[in-house]
Amino acid sequence: MSTHRPICPLPDLLVSQIAAGEVIERPASVLKELVENAVDSGAQSIEVRLEAGGIRRIAVIDDGSGIRAEELSLALTRHATSKITSLAELESVDSMGFRGEALASIAAVSQLTITSRTRDAAHAFSFESGMTEPVAAAGALGTTVEVKYLFDAVPARRKFLRAEATEFGHCIDAIERVALAFPEIGLRVFHNERAVRQWLPASALQRISDVLGSEFNEHGIEVNAQGGPMSIMGVTTRPTAARARADRQFLFVNGRHVRDRTVSHAIRSAYADVLHGDRQPAFVLFLQIDPLAVDVNVHPAKHEVRFRDTGAVHRFVSQTITQALAGTAGTHQVSQGEHGTTLGAFAKPLNGGAQTFTPRWNPGAQAAFALREPASNGLDQPGAWKALYQPLDDSHKTDSTRIDNHETWPLGRALAQVHGIYILSQTSSGLALIDMHAAHERVVYEQLKTAIDAQSLPQQTLLVPVVFRVTEKELALAEECAEQLSALGFELAAAGPQSMTLRSVPAMLARGDLEALARGVLRDIEHVGASRLLTEQRNTLLATMACHGAVRANRQLTIEEMNALLRQMEHTERADQCNHGRPTWVHFSVSDLDKLFLRGQ
Ligand SMILES: Nc1ncnc2c1ncn2[C@@H]1O[C@H](COP(=O)(O)OP(=O)(O)O)[C@@H](O)[C@H]1O
Ligand SMILES: [Mg+2]
Repeated sequence: MSTHRPICPLPDLLVSQIAAGEVIERPASVLKELVENAVDSGAQSIEVRLEAGGIRRIAVIDDGSGIRAEELSLALTRHATSKITSLAELESVDSMGFRGEALASIAAVSQLTITSRTRDAAHAFSFESGMTEPVAAAGALGTTVEVKYLFDAVPARRKFLRAEATEFGHCIDAIERVALAFPEIGLRVFHNERAVRQWLPASALQRISDVLGSEFNEHGIEVNAQGGPMSIMGVTTRPTAARARADRQFLFVNGRHVRDRTVSHAIRSAYADVLHGDRQPAFVLFLQIDPLAVDVNVHPAKHEVRFRDTGAVHRFVSQTITQALAGTAGTHQVSQGEHGTTLGAFAKPLNGGAQTFTPRWNPGAQAAFALREPASNGLDQPGAWKALYQPLDDSHKTDSTRIDNHETWPLGRALAQVHGIYILSQTSSGLALIDMHAAHERVVYEQLKTAIDAQSLPQQTLLVPVVFRVTEKELALAEECAEQLSALGFELAAAGPQSMTLRSVPAMLARGDLEALARGVLRDIEHVGASRLLTEQRNTLLATMACHGAVRANRQLTIEEMNALLRQMEHTERADQCNHGRPTWVHFSVSDLDKLFLRGQ
C-alpha cells in the first residue's frame, strides 16, 4: 500500500463484532451460549423459544439465580464475568462460561434484551444495549435473554445462514448436547410456538434414552470406570449397532461437549477388533478429569480442550472401552441363541415384531469350524480371486478330491452376490448371508496378525511408486518411524519437503487404495506415538491396514472368488477367532425359513 494509513484503535462495537465472528456462527451458537449461561446460573428448568429456526428470535428462559439490576449492563460488557476473578480460578473453572464475552458478542450482532429478577428484588428489570439504566419489567425469578434478528446488521454473516429448517436442526443438536450433559435440568423447546422437545429431570441413563431414543440404550453397554484423576461413565453401543455415520458420538469432558482427537482415537482403537469397515460406534461418554489436568481455554467456542497428559487419557479410555466391549462377549452373540440385535432388526419387517423368529449363528456350523479340514475349490484354481488377496500359507489347501464335497463346508457354496454387499450361499442345513467387506477385512486382519507374529510379512515393491502430499509433521513422523514401518511392510521416503514416495507395501494390501492406506497408517502413528506402534497399539494399526486392503462393497466378485473367500473365512475362524463384534455372516436354517412362511404350522 503506497499511501500511509495510521494505526487506529477500533471502535468498541467493531471490536465486539469481530470477536463475535469467532464464537457466533449461527443461531445454534447463540443458543448454546445462552443455555450454558442458564446452566451456570443454577437453573432447574430451562425453556427455549425459537422462531424461524432461531434466525428471527431465540429466547432462553431460566429459573436460576438472576442478575442484579445494577449488574445488568455489565453482563453485556466484554470481558465482564461473575465466574472467575483470576488466572488461578481459570485453571480450575467448573462453570461453562468464563470469558465474559458471549453476551457482548451476541449483542453486537443482534438485538438482545435481558430481563432478570433475583431472589431479593421486588420485580424484574430489563436491559438492552444502548440503554443507560435498566427499566422495571414484569418477570419471574430467573433470567430471560431474548435475541432477535441475528446478523441483520452483518450482511456478510447473514449470507452464510442456511434454510430455517437447517438452522433449526443445528439448534436442536445444540440443545440435545446440553440436555445430555445436564440430565437433572428439565428442558422444554418450542419452535414457532409449537412444543418440539421436552425432557423431564432424569438420571443420566434415562436422559440418554429420552434424548436419543430407547434403542440407544437397548444396544448399549454401560461404561463406568475410575482411573487415578479420571473417571468415565456413559453408554457405548455394541458393535452390532454401529452406524455408517459418526453422528451419534457424544463426548463430554467435565460436562462440556467437546470434540477430541485423542479420545476419539482411543475409542476407535478399542473397537478396532470388533468393528469393521467404515462403521462408526455410537456413544455418550462423560469423562471427568481433575480440572488442573485439562485446559478448557483453547478454542473460541470451547469445542475443544487440551489434556495435560494425552497418553494417560488415551490409555484410560481405550482400556475402559475395550473391557466394556469384551464384557459383552456372551450377551450379544447371536450364536448363544440370544436375539441378536442386528438380526432382530432384520427380522422385524418380516414378522411385525410378533413372531419369535430368530435367525442365529448355527452352533453346528461352528462346531464344524473347529473340527473340519476345510475343503476348497477356488483356492486351487488360477482364478481371479488370487488378485484379491494372497494366502500366507498353503496349509489350508486341500486336494481336489474334496472339491465337490461342499456339503461339509460350514459356510456352504456361494450362489450369488447380493447388491454388491452380501454373498448368498447354500449350506448343508439352510442358507447363509455373508457381509463381503467385513468378512474379507477380518480375513486380512487375521492374516496380517499371523504374518507379523511370524515375522514373515510378504512385502511388495510397487512397480509405480505412489507419490502423495503430506504435511511436514507427517513427513517427520514417517522418518522417525521408518524402522517400524518397514517391519510392517512399508517403505516410505521423503520426495520433497511436503511429499512422500511409497515404494513398497504389504503384499496382501497391494491392490487397495495405497495412498489412503499410507495416510491411515500415518494418522494412527500420529495418535499412538512411535513407541507403542508395534506393541499396545499394533492391532489398531493392523485394523486400519485391513480396512484399506479389504475388498470394497460394489466390487463384482466371481463365484470362485466368493467361494475362495468363504473357505478363507472358515480357515480364519478356526484359527482363533473371537465371535464378538459385528457378525460377518448370519445363518438361516431351513426351519427358520419354514417359520417365516408359516410352513407346517
Ligand atoms: N441466564 C443467566 N443467569 C444469571 N446470570 C447470567 C445469565 N446469563 C449471563 N449472566 C451473567 O452475565 C455474565 C456474562 O455472561 P457471558 O457473556 O455469557 O460470559 P460468561 O458466561 O463467560 O461469564 C455472566 O458471568 C453472568 O454473571
Ligand atoms: Mg456465558
